[in-house]
Amino acid sequence: MRCRKQAFVITIITAVAFVSIAAMNVENEPFKEGVYIEPSAQQKGDTQKGYDYLVNGDYLKSGLGYNFYVLLNGKDKRNYLGRTGKAGNVAYNFNLVKTKNNNSLVVPNCLQCHGQEFNGNLVIGLGNTFLDFSKPFKRNDVKGKITQKVMRFILPQQYQSSRVLIRSFSTIAPYLQTETQGVNAADRLAILLVAHRNPETLKWSDKALLEIPEEVIPTDVPAWWLLKKKNAMFYNGFGRGDFGKFLMLSNLLTVSDTSEAAETFTHFKDVLAYLKSIEAPRYPHSIDSTLAVSGKAVFNNNCSKCHGVYGDNVTYPNLLIPAHIIKTDSLLFKANYQNPQFIEWFNKSWYANGHYPARLQPFNGYIAPPLDGVWITAPYLHNGSVPTLEALLNSKERPRYWQRDFEQPEYDYVNVGWKYEVKNEGNSRKIYNTDKPGYRNTGHTFGDRLNKEDRKAVIEYLKTL
Ligand code: HEC
Ligand code: HEC
Repeated sequence: MRCRKQAFVITIITAVAFVSIAAMNVENEPFKEGVYIEPSAQQKGDTQKGYDYLVNGDYLKSGLGYNFYVLLNGKDKRNYLGRTGKAGNVAYNFNLVKTKNNNSLVVPNCLQCHGQEFNGNLVIGLGNTFLDFSKPFKRNDVKGKITQKVMRFILPQQYQSSRVLIRSFSTIAPYLQTETQGVNAADRLAILLVAHRNPETLKWSDKALLEIPEEVIPTDVPAWWLLKKKNAMFYNGFGRGDFGKFLMLSNLLTVSDTSEAAETFTHFKDVLAYLKSIEAPRYPHSIDSTLAVSGKAVFNNNCSKCHGVYGDNVTYPNLLIPAHIIKTDSLLFKANYQNPQFIEWFNKSWYANGHYPARLQPFNGYIAPPLDGVWITAPYLHNGSVPTLEALLNSKERPRYWQRDFEQPEYDYVNVGWKYEVKNEGNSRKIYNTDKPGYRNTGHTFGDRLNKEDRKAVIEYLKTL
């Protein structure tokens, strides 16, 4: 009798163990309808050299003369990057470089878009969500014209150094305007630059060589510390092959030919090594660890299959999620199919050739991103349409028209994101209007099925990543 009872108990225990192992497998199994992104071989580089090049390098070859920069902007007092000499007087989002004629030039760097001040510190790699691409561009801007004339007259040599940048900017600036401040128009910038360059020689043409679509598609800027986990670059996951080729794309603003591009490219394996070394910033306030532990279980059951597992046994599934499942704004990936001329340009260009080719491979959907440091990367989704994690995980809470304070921004550590005001309409450049194409806040409703306590727990857990 005893024996039978024991056997029964053992059977039950085994069954329970099996069921829980099966359940665990289901939890950690990648989302079935997701499309796995194969890794591409990457070059090895030197982290320190990469950082030096990023903040001192001449990947842009045209800019403002140093004296002129100081005249316009004054000397930077904060010197976040601790640079020495004259470079210490230049704001973190510019580099001081020397021209062939030994002139000091101030050129924009990647931190224009990939660095942001947060609580009085500079966070390198955090997407800048304060840039204003929504300012109307005045073709006959008198101030700009006078500045150019004065520059040409008093500082002819310095004007010469600025000419290429001014040419690129004045050709493309009228077509860069977004609907609201805070979203980024870099994809548009790339399209416009590409349209004015021969794919094989990279030579500039004043006339556009490709048909340029009307719409300016807004995006948020992804954090650099996520790149180390990803097998493909960009929200659409379409950046494949050698990442260095994509990292150097800003160079299209000023590059003169392919031999110059090839020289610039040699530095980008180091930049990649540096980007891969960046760690997500830690959440600066206290975290309720009991709540976070229960949040971790909820996360592993509902979210890990797309976003991966964090902590001791890190996994990241590298999945593209098809449009009919993710249902977030579709304008960004649809554009790749409606205007294939840009993909075609890239895939036959200098960038797609040589020893380290890159290629663009579009997909109808978006990559499920790693969530390291997600507490600091508000607003959320690829178009920055959702101001807080709370609203991201409870779609009924997502504001249709919302405004944050760009002058005196305040972070909300409870709902996690920017403090915002709900508006009744969206007719202002300071208001995020989610009715507009490209700006919609639909989709990603995976948090809706959680109850209030579980959602709170997940948010607490997300703070720990
Ligand atoms: C004008 C703003 C701007 C500048 C300047 C800029 N970027 Fe970006 N970058 C973006 C935006 C926006 C995206 C996202 C585009 C997308 O995915 O559709 C992006 C994407 C990236 C990504 C992909 C990240 C990921 O996880 O997929 C990397 C890496 C990157 N940029 C590196 C650089 C480097 C290095 C430089 C300087 C040489 C640079 N960027 C200059 C705006 C900019
Ligand atoms: C079916 C796959 C899938 C599931 C399940 C899923 N997500 Fe996502 N998640 C995505 C994709 C894809 C995106 C990017 C969508 C976009 O930007 O348009 C995303 C974006 C996000 C973002 C925004 C990241 C940013 O920086 O903008 C957060 C936060 C997030 N998910 C959290 C969660 C949480 C928490 C859960 C579980 C409750 C979850 N996700 C479940 C696929 C998924």
